[in-house]
Amino acid sequence: MSNDTLKQILDLARWAPSGDNTQPWRFELVNDHMIRVHGHDTRDHVLYDFDGHPSHMAHGALLETLRVAATGFGLKATWTAHSEGDHRHPIYEVILAPDDSIKQDPLFDCITLRTVQRRPMKTTALTDGQRQALQDAAGEGFTLQVLDSWHDRRRVANLLWASAKIRLTCPEAFPVHKAVIEWRARFSKDRIPEEAVGVDWATARLMEWAMHSWERVAFMNRYLMGTIVPRVQLDLLPGLRCAAHLLLHPKTEPQRIEDWVRLGESLQRIWLTATLHGLQLQPQMTPVIFRWYARAGRHFSADPVLFDQAQKVASEFESVVGALPTSAFGFFARVGHSPVPQSRSVRLALPELDKQ
Ligand SMILES: Cc1cc2nc3c(=O)[nH]c(=O)nc-3n(C[C@H](O)[C@H](O)[C@H](O)COP(=O)(O)O)c2cc1C
Repeated sequence: MSNDTLKQILDLARWAPSGDNTQPWRFELVNDHMIRVHGHDTRDHVLYDFDGHPSHMAHGALLETLRVAATGFGLKATWTAHSEGDHRHPIYEVILAPDDSIKQDPLFDCITLRTVQRRPMKTTALTDGQRQALQDAAGEGFTLQVLDSWHDRRRVANLLWASAKIRLTCPEAFPVHKAVIEWRARFSKDRIPEEAVGVDWATARLMEWAMHSWERVAFMNRYLMGTIVPRVQLDLLPGLRCAAHLLLHPKTEPQRIEDWVRLGESLQRIWLTATLHGLQLQPQMTPVIFRWYARAGRHFSADPVLFDQAQKVASEFESVVGALPTSAFGFFARVGHSPVPQSRSVRLALPELDKQ
């Protein structure tokens, strides 16, 4: 196979999702049947990148997208991870081999169509076929819990509301929020464009003004109920207005880097399957991440009140889904029917993703 084929595969694979569109990967074409993916994470400056695991999940989403893309060229892609210490710089060696039994994966056409919908969706229920397809997509080693009753969606919306309060009042999260939005944009190649955030124009202007400094945010939060409007638009309404919330449970607690990567493969299969079935999806990872901090006993803020609030979120989350404090939670998202978003994150061009 030619170098050109591998470039076409990578050109598709780069559409994999990553937290805040960080694209924590760089590519090296080693020879005409091997690609080396150099992963990194953002844990040193992103509060949400708990021990780098959300980035490891994004690596998994990338590898799964690469696998699906390769089927379109009659190739079978298999990877091995090489990683040391606390997995800050894992390297994935991907071998691509011609295989006559390979047919183009039905998810192939969804690679570039899949995107996040952060706005409220219709509450039309999932069909049995859609539910089954999503559960099958989770794959071996995982179970997908579907929370779709009005009662459950209301409880999840309340959970998102409480989790968002931590997010918006946590000084350690502020630099991330400040850096991640590309204001007044419909498309962004390395961040989230304003129009895809999910707030109306006036709220966006207020957020843009407030995010100039933590002092402004703290002032708004204290005297102007600054968290209320964004929380209604970004958490409460979307939490209620969807078909279902999905919680992906790994059957065993992820420990090795490969376990986190497999979790990312599973989430991407679920997301591409949702696209195939005409559904939109939004990950909602903050309750999972605050629960990881709470259950690991890790204080993520100088403000001790926020740790207490994270413990409450963790307990409420476990109560909503009927799980134990020791249960492993992997990926949390909402799905539903809605028009395709007009605004989305796009990606760095292939030459910009080249490992120098
Ligand atoms: C591990 C992971 C966690 C994510 N967490 C969230 C989240 O909590 N909230 C959200 O709105 N989007 C979340 N996203 C979606 C990303 O922000 C999104 O995929 C990225 O900005 C690229 O946009 P696209 O998926 O529309 O191409 C997450 C994605 C991944 C892979």
